[in-house]
Amino acid sequence: DDLERLAADIRRADTVVAFTGAGISAPSGVPTFRGDDGVWEHFDEGQFTYGRFQRDPAGFWTDRLELQRVMFDGEFEPNPAHEALAAMGADGHLKAILTQNTDGLHVDAADASGTNETTLLELHGNARRVRCPDCGRCTDGDPVFERAADGDIPPTCECGGVYKPDVVLFGEQLPGAVIQRARALARESDVFLAIGSSLVVEPAASLPRLAASPETTVGIINLESTPVDSTADIVYREDVTTVLPRLRDVLEA
Ligand code: OAD
Repeated sequence: DDLERLAADIRRADTVVAFTGAGISAPSGVPTFRGDDGVWEHFDEGQFTYGRFQRDPAGFWTDRLELQRVMFDGEFEPNPAHEALAAMGADGHLKAILTQNTDGLHVDAADASGTNETTLLELHGNARRVRCPDCGRCTDGDPVFERAADGDIPPTCECGGVYKPDVVLFGEQLPGAVIQRARALARESDVFLAIGSSLVVEPAASLPRLAASPETTVGIINLESTPVDSTADIVYREDVTTVLPRLRDVLEA
């Protein structure tokens, strides 16, 4: 069937790239951005622009704490989809994971599997860290989020700069070096799997198209249809926690 064919392509491939979005973390309890009860139904993207961070850092941080409370409520852990990708990486079947997610769950899954053979690019940053735009200091976010929740808003760095969540805000460019590496990996890929992303915002919309060529297998795993489905070789409109562990099993068989 399709999975056998995909597994055969992966075995033959030099470069297999997985590109993930919010849908891969949904089974871990992290909400998606679009779709039913998506984060953007409860918040306005305008609350989280870089311009607002600069103009009104206190207002930005107040809203940001609320967003983090909604998104990262309580404990959440990698699910079988993250684990299947980490295992594929450990087995040498996956060269890189490019993720739009800021939840850090791919890092946790790689740590748990004891491998870091796979390149991981967090294209939108990591919401567990904060960074000072003035002096560049980058540090664990938890103590800073706690300070802010206790009323120290906006939280500042020792140098006096206002900490920023270490994520790409709206109106902010993705770091040039990171996006260039992502594009190069997409172009170089023999198999490119887009997983749990609506593929409507940049660079998500263009990476699968960059990957597409007669020699490349482009696969999409997503509950809803995407604008890229028509150009993909294989589309699974199924749950990531069903497809990826099965793919891993077929690869192991
Ligand atoms: P979206 O919320 O746009 O899309 C998530 C997709 O995952 C949807 O199309 C769902 O159908 C699908 N999905 C949900 N649960 C699934 C499951 N269990 N199995 C398979 N598919 C599932 O999220 P992204 O595409 O990641 O940017 O959004 C891209 C960017 O837009 C985000 O990184 C964020 C947002 O604005 C920034 O914050 C800069």
